[in-house]
Amino acid sequence: METSVTLDFLGDLRRTHYCGTLRAADEGKTVVLMGWVHRRRDHGGVIFVDLRDRDGITQVVFHEDVGPAVHSRAEQVRPEYVIAVEGKVALRSATNVNPNLPTGEIEVVASSIWLLNESRTPPFPMEEQVDVAEDARLKYRYVDLRRPRMQRNIILRSKIAFAIREHLNSAGFLEIETPFMTRSTPEGARDYLVPSRVQPGTFYALPQSPQIFKQLLMVGGYEKYFQIVRCFRDEDLRADRQPEFTQIDLEMSFPQQERIFEVIEPMLKNACAVAGFEIATPFPRITYAEAMRSYGSDKPDCRIPPMHPVEDLAPELAAGGLPLVAIHIPATGVASRKERDELKAFGQQLGLRVYDDFKRLERDYPGPMAHVRERTGAQQNDLLVLATWAGEPKGQLPERTVYQACGQLRLYCAQKFNDRHKLLDPKNFQFLWVVDFPMFEWDDEENRWNAAHHPFTSVHDEDLEKLVSDPARCRAKSYDVVLNGTELGSGSIRIHRRDVQSKVFAALGFSDEEAHRRFGFLLDALEYGAPPHGGIALGLDRLVMILAGESSIRDVIPFPKTARGTDLMCEAPATVPERQLRELGITFRGSK
Ligand code: AMO
Repeated sequence: METSVTLDFLGDLRRTHYCGTLRAADEGKTVVLMGWVHRRRDHGGVIFVDLRDRDGITQVVFHEDVGPAVHSRAEQVRPEYVIAVEGKVALRSATNVNPNLPTGEIEVVASSIWLLNESRTPPFPMEEQVDVAEDARLKYRYVDLRRPRMQRNIILRSKIAFAIREHLNSAGFLEIETPFMTRSTPEGARDYLVPSRVQPGTFYALPQSPQIFKQLLMVGGYEKYFQIVRCFRDEDLRADRQPEFTQIDLEMSFPQQERIFEVIEPMLKNACAVAGFEIATPFPRITYAEAMRSYGSDKPDCRIPPMHPVEDLAPELAAGGLPLVAIHIPATGVASRKERDELKAFGQQLGLRVYDDFKRLERDYPGPMAHVRERTGAQQNDLLVLATWAGEPKGQLPERTVYQACGQLRLYCAQKFNDRHKLLDPKNFQFLWVVDFPMFEWDDEENRWNAAHHPFTSVHDEDLEKLVSDPARCRAKSYDVVLNGTELGSGSIRIHRRDVQSKVFAALGFSDEEAHRRFGFLLDALEYGAPPHGGIALGLDRLVMILAGESSIRDVIPFPKTARGTDLMCEAPATVPERQLRELGITFRGSK
């Protein structure tokens, strides 16, 4: 592309200040600033340029009568041109002070300008207030990254990661890398595969997490490991899931669950402080069983009150011995008929029978409903609905199905009335530990037990005997840290004994042969003095997303993928030349 203006060289010109730093006290200083033209206003004899860099914006003025050559050069600049200016810091007149800008009391009166690069008209405006379609933002990500919102988010991400490193370093953890080109790791998603050229027909798998390696590092005697590490999972994407994402991953030797919490709570406190929020520790804890009963979810949003089972108070309303659940949302005011119809319809879609008119229930069942009010603590100004199952719930755990559906209805109601109660304020941080997950989950489709966390998780000491005889009642030494309804992290105390690991594989229906084929090296390692060990991994993207007040992790990742797993900027994934496939011994058979 031919340039439309003559460009200058940077030469050995050196920047003296960033664009957010100058204040009234700097009056009279000669400064050199560099950055992008955020906006240019041409008032005839005077041109104003808002010059922007990562640090902020400074107003630069070009006076025709003071420097005609510099002024006419400034006439050539357009938005997003890259320039350098030298000039003197001057106070703005009282009427021109901009209180919205940290540098709003001053301007730089330019004596020289260098045009370092021009720019095509940007695909969208830089202003934060302008809503831009996400596809355009992702295609021109390098431009989007310059916008204030992304700059704030990416800078915050860096600061949080740094605070975490500092915390873990001072707690005695070593940062150790683990391989990306490896074997399949058991986190339950599909693997991304990398074909080997040297050994045709064989593949590396990208790690879904460093799980096995961090356990091997404990066997290797490193005692406290951490890594801020990329993980790869081929799974259905959502607002809080990316195919490659970052974990704050750690592992300790000789820990109890308590020791892990003692590391994580102050670490999260520091991360929140970096984002300007103070949080209380220790975090409350509830068991998985309690979470399911009170919130219908293993990642409860505790900004709104729990649900209460009330079938004992009004058994005639509960379907066939199943739970009758009271959902209570404070300070909604009186719900309109339309609102009640909508929430009822939502509940019905989930298979629930919803009693949306509590006033009517109070008329029909005054005694029991007075007790419901008492149990929930609901005031007259609050929303109170009861729900039970409409038909026969399927699967092994009908009660859980009912609680889960009620949990969804609870969140729906909370969101629906949020503009009245405002409890879902994203800055209202409610951290929580969920503990004592079940060891196994029944898979209705495959008709077998799966590991609820992963197959290296310890069972509670007193449940060890039940591993094979009663897997449904085995509780795992595993824990999740949850923030406002999002699972932030997950971990467990691991199995460190070979005999126990074999029992768990057996309970999962793995033959010895299959266990050996997939994890032989880990099983071998357990036979060479593996210490008791345990750990946790937190999603860095999710943590930054919540602290930045965003609702998608794409907004805190510099170069994310779309919901279809594509990179719109580099157009990945892409086909490769036939020659490359031949070298790898791969023939494409067409799509399924
Ligand atoms: P888990 O699979 O629960 O545990 O992952 C830990 C945390 O990683 C984050 N996370 C994701 N973030 C964005 N996109 C994704 N696709 C994605 N998948 C997971 C979540 C989650 O809580 N090895 C175990 C940890 C351990 O036992 O120590 C593991 O990976 O925030």
